[in-house]
Amino acid sequence: MGADAPPVRARGLVKRYKEVLAVDHIDLNVDQGDVYGFLGPNGAGKTTTLRMALGLIVPSEGKVELFGRDPMREGARALAGVAGFVEAPRFYPYLTARKNLQMLAALDGDGAKDRIGEVLDVVELTPRAGHRVGGFSHGMRQRLGIAAALLRRPRLLILDEPATGLDPAGMRDMRLLIRRLADDGITVLLSSHQLPEVQELCDRVAIVDSGRVVYEGALADLRRQGGAGYRLRSTDDQRALQIAREQPGLENARAAEDGIDFQADERHVGELTLALGRAGIGILALAPELATLEDLFFRLTETAGAGSEPAGGDGRAEAELVSAQ
Ligand SMILES: Nc1ncnc2c1ncn2[C@@H]1O[C@H](COP(=O)(O)OP(=O)(O)O)[C@@H](O)[C@H]1O
Ligand SMILES: [Mg+2]
Repeated sequence: MGADAPPVRARGLVKRYKEVLAVDHIDLNVDQGDVYGFLGPNGAGKTTTLRMALGLIVPSEGKVELFGRDPMREGARALAGVAGFVEAPRFYPYLTARKNLQMLAALDGDGAKDRIGEVLDVVELTPRAGHRVGGFSHGMRQRLGIAAALLRRPRLLILDEPATGLDPAGMRDMRLLIRRLADDGITVLLSSHQLPEVQELCDRVAIVDSGRVVYEGALADLRRQGGAGYRLRSTDDQRALQIAREQPGLENARAAEDGIDFQADERHVGELTLALGRAGIGILALAPELATLEDLFFRLTETAGAGSEPAGGDGRAEAELVSAQ
């Protein structure tokens, strides 16, 4: 509970719903200043874990501490300095954005009502403050949800799939907003089922699958372990593939839909381009291929020898966005 206690420590968290083991002994370590990604496919147990972190549901086993305080033992006091939402933030649709925030500020107390203008500014909703929330786009609601969280002047912000369902521009705005908040010193724990959403934002991640953490650490380390992937298009892909296969330092060279794929570190990529040049093969495009979440899962489950199917979407994502709470 001291000032130095870490924002989030979860130990052995379990949540059972009858025969469903939604969360299966999860440990999380979110440190001060982290933008921490909680990454996993739909149904992996992200929302359930974040609900336990926010004290909204009771763990079946294990515990979570926020700045050293357990919401199960200390109730609302454990949530001092913590704000966020799971699934989708909820507002009164027939009230304006400002009125919704005024009602929340009245509950929060502690000068929250004096910050309404400021938090609307932060999420760039000032021009829409007088509009009814019922007419807001999904992205605007998500931003208003963050504004509502900011009323509490959080040191830790917990956001459940804040960018899911947003269009690319909305996703970029959300990333920039979260980045700004992090730069202001707020620790962020956010969940996502899409790797591109977190890779620009998060330094550290926990990857969760079927209720278990299969990886926790730097995303960069994980991707290095797998070797960075590249896609090459050339004037002669067949010969380029032969050369790539003979080239030292290149791995898994294979024909792709549109060119060839391989893995290598940058130095060896440079050498490949020279070898292609010597062979009279022109390079039309050469670009790093970002590993997808599915790729990372595949690697992780492969190395763990678990051999489980990388879980795909089960159609819950859309339902979650509109589901109440
Ligand atoms: N209230 C509940 N009752 C029964 N099963 C639940 C409940 N909440 C979640 N689950 C199940 O727990 C698993 C994890 O769900 P969830 O935490 O929502 O995953 P995610 O947020 O990663 O998509 C899923 O199989 C889901 O169906
Ligand atoms: Mg969820």
